[in-house]
Amino acid sequence: MSSDMIAPGADDDTTRAGTTTLSHGMTAAGAAAKASVAGVAAVPGVSKPDPILTVDHVIRRFGGMTAVDVGHLEVQRGIITALIGPNGAGKTTFFNLITGFDKPSSAPRLIGGPKAGEAAKSTFNGRDVGNTGATKVAKMGMVRTFQLTKALSKLTVIENMRLGAKDQPGENLFVSVLKPLWVKRELEITAKAEELLARFKLLDKKDDMAGSLSGGQKKLLEMARALMSDPVMIMLDEPMAGVNPALTQSLLGHIQSLRDEGMTVLFVEHDMNMVRHISDWVVVMAEGKVVAEGPASTVMNDPAVIDAYLGAHHNTDLGDDSLLTDEVAEELAAEVQNEALTEGETKA
Ligand SMILES: Nc1ncnc2c1ncn2[C@@H]1O[C@H](COP(=O)(O)OP(=O)(O)OP(=O)(O)O)[C@@H](O)[C@H]1O
Ligand SMILES: [Mg+2]
Repeated sequence: MSSDMIAPGADDDTTRAGTTTLSHGMTAAGAAAKASVAGVAAVPGVSKPDPILTVDHVIRRFGGMTAVDVGHLEVQRGIITALIGPNGAGKTTFFNLITGFDKPSSAPRLIGGPKAGEAAKSTFNGRDVGNTGATKVAKMGMVRTFQLTKALSKLTVIENMRLGAKDQPGENLFVSVLKPLWVKRELEITAKAEELLARFKLLDKKDDMAGSLSGGQKKLLEMARALMSDPVMIMLDEPMAGVNPALTQSLLGHIQSLRDEGMTVLFVEHDMNMVRHISDWVVVMAEGKVVAEGPASTVMNDPAVIDAYLGAHHNTDLGDDSLLTDEVAEELAAEVQNEALTEGETKA
């Protein structure tokens, strides 16, 4: 894949309303995201200026094997963070734990649990989510997609989308007996579903069975469905796996535009080119632990990270010559600051 195909801002979808594209092709929001973590040290477990997700002592054992053992991790709000690591590193298990699909072995228990101060704890948007189930976590604004897509193949595309909406009329007895309210909400859900399907170029497939979509289209459907609930944070488990190269460019644009609209994105991906080009921050997991984190330019040139990867990914492209230099990133940050100042002046 040529690097210009996945250059930030290359897709015209990234320049949708509300985002400004700077002269370097990076959006203002993208530059601001990078600037927000510019001063953060590249050290595993480092504190971030504005974490949306904070995780402590999250351990998951399967029998005698420890799949996840994360002492402390913070995810900065409003940026794209990539979670990388070799196969079996514990990335998906970690996603399951923080989205309430699985429970840490280190969860606090009334009897026989971990010692005080060593029990698993996670907070999302300032609220404790350590003991919260998946549905509730999603309602709080953290949604995820799956490595193996979970589109329901015997339902149509639009039916799949409706399942992603929160506050569905049928869920609430009080609303379901008030038909006018019910109808209004139904119409809103359909309108929103169609808008998202159009955005992901799936609208002409809305009445097709989800099972008839290609692998890449299923990934897009899953992402679109996750957006039905207006999440504040979206977690994508290998969004590019199995996606046709023709679709990858627009998928990258979509992920960047989510960030540009203010969402926090955490994604797992093996495609190192994608990771380099769209991540504002990279977290590396190996054997369940966070072994490195920092900007892509720092982390992905770290010999320890390359070693951890080469064990499992001899074919992974770790070379890149089109990476944004720190100088360019600084220039962009200055440009954003100037823009903010000018805006302030016009308002004053
Ligand atoms: N339900 C389970 N029961 C037993 N072992 C499990 C279970 N789920 C995961 N594991 C093991 O935990 C480890 C971490 O798996 P996980 O799927 O989280 O890795 P991953 O980093 O997502 O890998 P990949 O990149 O291949 O998707 C692996 O050794 C895996 O075999
Ligand atoms: Mg996985």
